[in-house]
Parts: sequence; C-alpha cells; structure tokens
Amino acid sequence: MKKYTILLLGSGGRESALAWKLAQSPKLEKLYIAPGNGGTSQYGVNVNLSPLDFDAIKEFVTTNAVNMVVVGNEDPLVAGIYDYFAGDAALQGVPVVGPSQAGARLEGSKDFAKEFMMRHGIPTADHLSVDATTIDKGFEFLESQKPPYVLKADGLAAGKGVLIVPDLDEAKEQLRAMLGGMFGASSSRVVIEQFLSGIECSVFVLTDGSSYKILPVAKDYKRIGEGDTGPNTGGMGAVSPVSFADADFMHKVEERIIKPTINGLKQEEITYRGFIFLGLINVNGDPYVIEYNVRMGDPETEVVMLRIESDLLDLLEGVVTGTLAERELNIDSRYATTVMMVSAGYPGSYAKGKVITGTEKVADSILFHAGTRLTEDGTLLTSGGRVIAVSSYGDSKEDALRKSYANIEKIDFEGKNFRRDIGFDLK
Ligand code: AMP
Ligand code: GLY
Repeated sequence: MKKYTILLLGSGGRESALAWKLAQSPKLEKLYIAPGNGGTSQYGVNVNLSPLDFDAIKEFVTTNAVNMVVVGNEDPLVAGIYDYFAGDAALQGVPVVGPSQAGARLEGSKDFAKEFMMRHGIPTADHLSVDATTIDKGFEFLESQKPPYVLKADGLAAGKGVLIVPDLDEAKEQLRAMLGGMFGASSSRVVIEQFLSGIECSVFVLTDGSSYKILPVAKDYKRIGEGDTGPNTGGMGAVSPVSFADADFMHKVEERIIKPTINGLKQEEITYRGFIFLGLINVNGDPYVIEYNVRMGDPETEVVMLRIESDLLDLLEGVVTGTLAERELNIDSRYATTVMMVSAGYPGSYAKGKVITGTEKVADSILFHAGTRLTEDGTLLTSGGRVIAVSSYGDSKEDALRKSYANIEKIDFEGKNFRRDIGFDLK
C-alpha cells in the first residue's frame, strides 16, 4: 500500500475537519498543516508557512518528502498553486488536490462562472456583467429586473462582495460605487443578477476530471443573527443531511448541474482534480446555481467529513491518479450538526487572545478548531472571529444539535457568541 505524507494548506475549521478525517487513514504516513491552528496539532504537525508563499511551500515539500498537497482554501488555487507544481520539474511527482488556475476561475471570477454556465446550459439566475465603460447597460438591466437587486463583485472579496439591495435607485448608486472601487480591483467588473427566491444548500462533488462522487449535502447558516438576520458571516453552523435535498431533487442536481459541469470542464480542457462546491438554491423544487466554489465549504466540511464513512485519503488518491471511479464512497446514515462559537463583535471587529477554557470537559462532540492558537505553555487562546465548531452525530437532527449545544455550555471565553437556532428551517 502506498503511503502519503500530506501537506494540508489552511487554518480554519474546514482544515481541522479535513485533518481529523485524513488522520484516520491507514494510508497516511505523516500530516503537516500549514499554518494550521490550536486544534490541528492533534492530528499532525503545524508548519508556519503561508499558503500563498509557493516558493516556501516548494522548499518544505522537497525537504520533507511530501507526496500530496491538499488545498483547503481558495486563495492558493486562484493564485495558481496547481500550475506552479505542474510546471516545476522538482515538484512534478507531487500531486495537488485542487483545480488548475483555469478551473479556479469558477470561484475567482463570477463573470467566468456565469459564462461557463451559459455555455453548458446549467440553470442559474439571469445576469449581465458590466464594467465602468458599460455602466449604462447595467442601469438598463437593473430597470428590467424586479426588486430586490443582486450585485456581485466579479473577483474574490473575502465573502463580502455580494450586495442585495431593495431599492432601484440605491441599486444604481451601489453599482456605481462598486465599479468605482468599493471592493478594490475585485469589483472593477460587476455581475448583476436576477434575484432568486428559495432555500439554499451546499452540494460537494469530488472529481478526478472524468468521474465524480457526490459527497453528503449540507446546509449552512450564514447570517450572524437567529432567524437568518443581520450581516453575513463565514458561516455560523451547518447540518447534514438536508431534508429538502431528497432523491428527486438530487437527481435533478446531478443531471442538470453536476454532469454538465464535469463535461463542460472536460470539453474546455480545463484540468480539475479536486472538490467542487455548488451553492444551490431550490426554486419550487428546481435547483439553480448561486455560485461555484473550488474548495470545500466552511462550516459545511465540519459535518460532511463526519458523514463520510470511507477513507478520505483513498478517495483523494483516486482523484490524483485518475481512478476515482474505482474507489468506494460510503455515507454514514446518521445526522451531523455543527455550531460555530464566535468572538463578540464578529463579523465586524473583535478582540483576539481571549483564554478558552473547558474544552477538556466536552463529551460526545468533536471540536473542530478555527480561530484558536496554543501558546508555548499550552494555553488555548482565541485568534479569529470563528473560534470552534462544535460538531456532533445524532440519530436525528435534534439529537445531534442537543449534543452540540450541551457541549457549547462547557466551553467558555470572554465574549463567546453562537446561534441557538441552527437547523431551524428544516424538517
Ligand atoms: P454568493 O457569494 O454568490 O454565494 O452570494 C452570497 C449570498 O447572496 C448567497 O448565499 C445568497 O444567499 C445570496 N444570493 C446570491 N445570488 C443571489 C440571487 N441571484 N438571488 C438570490 N439570492 C442570491
Ligand atoms: N459556508 C460557505 C462557504 O464556505 O463559502
């Protein structure tokens, strides 16, 4: 059996969940996480490297016999880490799990993603893409739409580049502001979209470029406030499975979205060996794509990994060797939930360095650390907005949530906040 020394890039709850799952694999020789957090050192060795410093990553990979790189977050993918490895003689035997830079445009450019969907007949909201020279066309398109109005920065904007505006005049003003640099260069082009009304879910696909496997479906809770109110966050919790994503809905997702996406990438000769995240909206029983991401979701990964029974590393080996079709994917039938503990003030400004206590009292949940760090003397401190994802199995959604909430009571830090209604809108 071939063994792998893996470098996992990233530092969030998603990477904690990936590390937890990879650490269970008999095919794992050694796991490094760069930069990791205060929890990932339970599963491997944290390495103080930036996921965007490709030269430093190369140096680490070659001196530590790393033979697989798993990319957790989108930035290195959009910056071309796949191509950097493929184009370097010293790194060519080291596969990267993730798309090429061309494939990463599905997340890195909303305009590219919309055009890709149009070319392949994939259902998505009507749209028009404009820049400063075509702003008048943008105004006309807005006038042709019903409120509310959806404006999206073309490029990566750290999850903040989407505005949903109730009023036409305000939408025009915001369009002008976005094109004028509201999100820097990422909004020099803006995608204006038809507003779709429905409930959202996240579908994850693993592909080796020709075959694919559909991972468990999850739903995340993006707003800071209970009842889905207040500003967007990175995600305050997640559940899997999702009651409305039944066999009939998933059949439509596979036929109308997944197959045309995989075939479209092949047709356009875009190298893609990794995760595809479909942000979907259910409009009266029909799935539409809200967005593509080229990585797993956070906090969705914290429930999806719980529900994958099979060896994740075996699946990833299938991805990088083009043999995914031969690999097994078994799904745990139990429910999984995660509730994110966050810092006071998040998603606005918040304090860091608060002492976290009580994690040793947790029973029957798995703690996926996000914004935490361990000091040299072993004290656990907060170091981010999202701090710990408290993740649990259950025979029902309620059973799993009860465990997550019971364990949250045992963990404390100054200013701890969390949503008490994760899963509230699902059966
Ligand atoms: P995105 O970054 O593209 O996922 O957009 C962020 C959030 O804005 C999504 O999760 C949706 O809740 C909302 N959104 C985006 N596009 C649309 C749309 N066309 N219609 C309705 N809501 C949307
Ligand atoms: N939870 C949504 C995301 O990871 O983008």
